[in-house]
Amino acid sequence: MTYKKKLIEVALPLEAINKEAAREKSIRHGHPSTLHLWWARRPLAACRAVLFASLVDDPSECVAELMKDSAKRKAAEKELKARKQLWDEQTALLAKALASGISAPPPGPEPKLEAIVAEVERERLFEIIRKLVKWENSNNEDVLNAARAEIMRSCNGNPPPVCDPFCGGGSIPLEAQRLGLEAHASDLNPVPVLINKALIEIPPKFAGKPPVNPEARNKLGASGSWKGTAGLAEDIRYYGQWVRNEALKRIGKFYQDVAVVSETEGQFRYANPEEIQNSKNKVENLKVIAWLWARTVESPNPAFTGCHVPLVSSFWLSTKPGKETWVEPVINGKTYQFEIRKGQPQDPDWLSRGTRAGKAQDFLCLLSKSPLPREYVREQGKAGRLGARLMAVVAEGSRGRVYLPPTMEAEMIAQSADSIPRVAEARTTFLSGTTPTRAMITGGVCSAYGLSTWGHLFTSRQLIGLTTLSTLITEVRKQVMEDYELAIAENGREKTNSPTAGLNEGGNGAKAYAESISVYLSFALSRSADRGSCICSWDSSPKMEALRNTFGRQALPMVWDFAEGNPFSDSSGSWNNNVEFTAKSVEKFAGSNLGFAKQADATEKTTFIKGSLFSTDPPYYDNISYAELSDFFYVWLRQTLRAVYPNLFETLLVPKATELVATPFRHGSQELAEKFFLDGMSTAIHNMAEATPPAFPVTIYYAFKQAERDDEGSASTGWETFLEAVLRAGFSLTGTWPMRTELSNRMVSVGTNALASSVVLVCRARMADAGVTSRRDFLSALKKELPEALRHLQKGNIAPVDLAQAAIGPGMAVFSRYAKVLETDGSTMSVRSALTEINKSLDEVLAEQEGEFDADTRWALAWFDQYGFNEGAYGSAETLSTAKNTSVSGMAEAGILTAKGGKVRLLKKEELDANWNPATDKRLTIWEITHHLIRRLEHGESGAAELIKLLGVKAEVARDLSYRLYTICERRKWAQEAIAYNTLVLSWGDVQRLAGEIKVAAPSQGEMSL
Ligand SMILES: C[S@@+](CC[C@H](N)C(=O)[O-])C[C@H]1O[C@@H](n2cnc3c(N)ncnc32)[C@H](O)[C@@H]1O
Repeated sequence: MTYKKKLIEVALPLEAINKEAAREKSIRHGHPSTLHLWWARRPLAACRAVLFASLVDDPSECVAELMKDSAKRKAAEKELKARKQLWDEQTALLAKALASGISAPPPGPEPKLEAIVAEVERERLFEIIRKLVKWENSNNEDVLNAARAEIMRSCNGNPPPVCDPFCGGGSIPLEAQRLGLEAHASDLNPVPVLINKALIEIPPKFAGKPPVNPEARNKLGASGSWKGTAGLAEDIRYYGQWVRNEALKRIGKFYQDVAVVSETEGQFRYANPEEIQNSKNKVENLKVIAWLWARTVESPNPAFTGCHVPLVSSFWLSTKPGKETWVEPVINGKTYQFEIRKGQPQDPDWLSRGTRAGKAQDFLCLLSKSPLPREYVREQGKAGRLGARLMAVVAEGSRGRVYLPPTMEAEMIAQSADSIPRVAEARTTFLSGTTPTRAMITGGVCSAYGLSTWGHLFTSRQLIGLTTLSTLITEVRKQVMEDYELAIAENGREKTNSPTAGLNEGGNGAKAYAESISVYLSFALSRSADRGSCICSWDSSPKMEALRNTFGRQALPMVWDFAEGNPFSDSSGSWNNNVEFTAKSVEKFAGSNLGFAKQADATEKTTFIKGSLFSTDPPYYDNISYAELSDFFYVWLRQTLRAVYPNLFETLLVPKATELVATPFRHGSQELAEKFFLDGMSTAIHNMAEATPPAFPVTIYYAFKQAERDDEGSASTGWETFLEAVLRAGFSLTGTWPMRTELSNRMVSVGTNALASSVVLVCRARMADAGVTSRRDFLSALKKELPEALRHLQKGNIAPVDLAQAAIGPGMAVFSRYAKVLETDGSTMSVRSALTEINKSLDEVLAEQEGEFDADTRWALAWFDQYGFNEGAYGSAETLSTAKNTSVSGMAEAGILTAKGGKVRLLKKEELDANWNPATDKRLTIWEITHHLIRRLEHGESGAAELIKLLGVKAEVARDLSYRLYTICERRKWAQEAIAYNTLVLSWGDVQRLAGEIKVAAPSQGEMSL
């Protein structure tokens, strides 16, 4: 091995990373993911930790240096003393057992100072990671500098650039930049390229510069210090407001307020003309948040020919308890009208069902109750014969939403937009491309009901709104440029050499700045489109009462009753709101260090910058059809930014042919699609293997599909095929880290949900002289190397539920070190067989850790495996106890079991002696320690911490026992017990830290011998 192992190839504080990744999901304001929607984003916490640990050396590589540091050496010596004492005790016990003719596994290798000094150092690096992954520390310079310094140290002051050839939403490049590295992002799709330009390429050009808008200039005078991207964000807000004001002037008439009168608390009605004229103080003008529409279709019942009836999936407006509000259709012969009702409905199920027949997309005629089968509705939709009728108006009251019935006037204003020439023009030009059909994407498609072009996805009024905003975003550039020049003249803003070079020419002066503002505002436009299409529905749930966005899922399903938002309101989906989201997000960017984003195909060699650290998250099989879905945004971005990035927006729609997605639609058949995907992925991975320098590992995220988890919780062939492709591309594997965005202690059942949502594969280019080996030699190398690797994982408190997946890494490291492993019949060992052997080996290694346990615990473990906490025959217990060098009566005395009436049973944790004191226990067992710890943990961490403080290094053996017990429970599908053992390990780090803070003198180790 000619390279230094990186931390990621040995251990990670995985639970801390996963915990932060899970937390990140609930952060809305300011998270970079809110800048622009992209599907299947990786959590920033995971990307940050993975990059850091890929660059920092594992401490085992610098032991000599660590030993020279007297503080580190001293800390290690202290730890060694305690561990050595424990090991001596375990060795003496083993000798005693052997002397009585009883076989028992040895207690593992003797602890050595070199290994402990590395371990202590590893813990220091873990602490850096634990702080680094916290969302709150994203811009904490102290925390970031500590991480950057470690990277610099391990890279001799010259860290490599980071390259992500499947950059998507940009989590990896953004985190690379945050860590002080030069970041290179590329993607085939122009939308993510633009997102990455906005994330990493544009901010460094203008970081630290004050805003140029007149308001800020007046306030600032000649001075003003603006940290990072704060100045840029301020201008986004100002020019966003400018766009809004101009838009209101041009199209405000389509978005009129409603004049209402309050009747009783929370009840409003429309003001009549007289009230509007005469008693102004009683009349309130409220802004409309949304107009709620129902699509309609002609009733197929001959008695109702010509009558259009509504297709409604729910009549609810608000389900807030005590404030329930809904739409009630009131029928009058062949006509009907919608009224608003409040209170307790007689038939809430009917409201939830709307006019649906029960089965999805089948409806009933409101007037005749005749069925409206899906095929009929589809046929009418395709023929362009669906209509729409206003159901309700939602306005912004001072104390919450105000729901009002539809009016003729409101309907007519909306309809008047149909005749505006710009609407037809948009539909026949840039919005004329087709929306995806069922064969193109997974998930629902509205094209099946006639919404077959991008133009169909917006009402006429929505098109007026979006096209006006788009035009104004192009116009605002002139305004910004003028202000920029004034800022130079008035405030002494520094001049640049390239005032007339735009972003595409690498400019950083007036023109580039003006274009940048329009890039960010066009992201607010994307948000407006996402919340402003006619497939947005109304969310009546108590906490929301708001518009849903178009892409709740990675699909474009039909929406029957849709909500048309008002861009000029102040609620979610409004222009103001969208600009604020964008500005908040920009404010959080590091803006430091160079970043580059370009459009490139990852299967082309030229995409790859030689000598980079590669970290990437490729598409997974057919999970998401990025190119098909992203046309929704592309058509608007192209319309607005084509002049800024002419090359990026060259094509009318997003390029699709070389996208690495396995869709039969594009490739002719399932087999051809699969072949295209695997060949392309292998080429891309091979390109990375060739461009990567030997000093660094490559990290590849592999996202599991739900369907890949079978009942046993193990992965399907998709995972094995991917591993095979990675190996075939010239890599060997050195780590596999399960990453999740759900907490592992929240799992409801063991086994079924055990697989993480993704795995980070840590790869190294395979040595050119990799040899061939036999199955036997492979197995003995596994046996030799796996125990230490497992120790490192356990020391990092990896959740027991993740241990098996993480152990694949070191196991695969052995397997993939060779060009081939030959089976006994001469055939080549497959990845599948290698995985089976690694799993077997893992079981064996865990079993061998029993050497650390006392005889009573070994007995309890074997008994538990067979009976759990149920009763078994006394005779069997006695026989087992002889084999383990202990006695049933002794163990009853020790307080771990009960023996009565010829039956023996292990005590459950709640039956253990509540007054138990390990310092006075004459027969202290690891079994008791473990279960007392779990019991105390149920009442909070401090009790468990006191116990750990008292026990010193002995307590660590309880953690080892928990891993063993977890595997037994998992195999036996004992979910409750498995969760308890998993939780003990997960809490270990925190409990240990708490124990470290307790200031009581613990009895010496000798006082508590086992
Ligand atoms: C899983 S996503 C990346 C997500 C990203 N890591 C994030 O956190 O947002 C995969 C990306 O691969 C891109 N892609 C698909 N085929 C490609 C190809 N041939 N070359 C480059 N990029 C491609 C897709 O456009 C998509 O953005």
